[in-house]
Amino acid sequence: MKRVLIALALSAPLFAAAADEAAPAAAAKDAFTQGDAGAGATKATACFACHGPGGNGAINADWPKLAGQHSSYIAGELADFKAGKRKNPVMLGQAAALSEDDMKNLGAYFAAQKPVPGVASKDAVAVAQKLYRAGDAARGLPACAACHGPSGAGNAAGQFPRIGGQNSSYAAAQLKSYKAGERGAAGKGQMMAAIAGKLSDQEIQALASYISGLQ
Ligand code: HEC
Ligand code: HEC
Repeated sequence: MKRVLIALALSAPLFAAAADEAAPAAAAKDAFTQGDAGAGATKATACFACHGPGGNGAINADWPKLAGQHSSYIAGELADFKAGKRKNPVMLGQAAALSEDDMKNLGAYFAAQKPVPGVASKDAVAVAQKLYRAGDAARGLPACAACHGPSGAGNAAGQFPRIGGQNSSYAAAQLKSYKAGERGAAGKGQMMAAIAGKLSDQEIQALASYISGLQ
């Protein structure tokens, strides 16, 4: 017995060395979901038909770009589509067959892709820039930048999604959906529902265009 213990004690530094060697592989995992971008890349080809190659969604502006979106936000939305908490028949069909690990891996893959921004219209900037940067205290409207950041990059921990560079017609549709109480009726979308409810349709269009040009 004593000999076994000594043998274990002697081999402990070897185990430690092996763990050190494994560290670079572990670092390749996504920091927020522990997803594997390489495994996600294999699954992601099925998504390119609608979200564009690499998730840069050039095919239909009504569909979102996923490139550069935060991994934990992507994994969370996929889980919500699958559970029917975020209602969309197309994405329900896509998410139904995904496991939790698939969702994390897909999140890691798309988060690692470089987003290609669009171009905001000049008229939109005139209406949207002040709202985006400063909000409107008189209406109790917070600055979009307070949560989504000055360049729309959001927050990598996934609390706030990237909106900079997003397709404008997708962004406008989501803001209208929040305003109508369809998205964000419960859960983490409630703050956006409260905010979008204070925006006019003209402001929504302008903000969506403005967002698409942010990078
Ligand atoms: C047939 C077209 C189609 C395919 C294929 C598809 N999607 Fe989607 N996806 C959509 C549409 C449309 C929406 C917008 C849904 C809405 O309006 O709520 C969306 C939304 C999303 C969102 C939410 C984005 C955001 O900014 O909130 C994520 C995440 C997503 N898709 C991931 C995927 C992944 C991962 C795959 C591949 C496994 C995939 N999608 C395949 C059409 C598609
Ligand atoms: C208090 C923090 C906060 C502020 C301020 C805020 N947002 Fe958001 N926003 C969020 C959160 C959280 C989500 C994700 C909610 C969900 O899961 O449905 C979100 C989601 C969005 C989305 C959908 C993203 C997607 O990919 O589907 C858009 C578009 C958006 N916000 C635009 C805006 C605009 C424009 C403003 C300013 C008028 C704004 N937000 C202000 C927190 C905020």
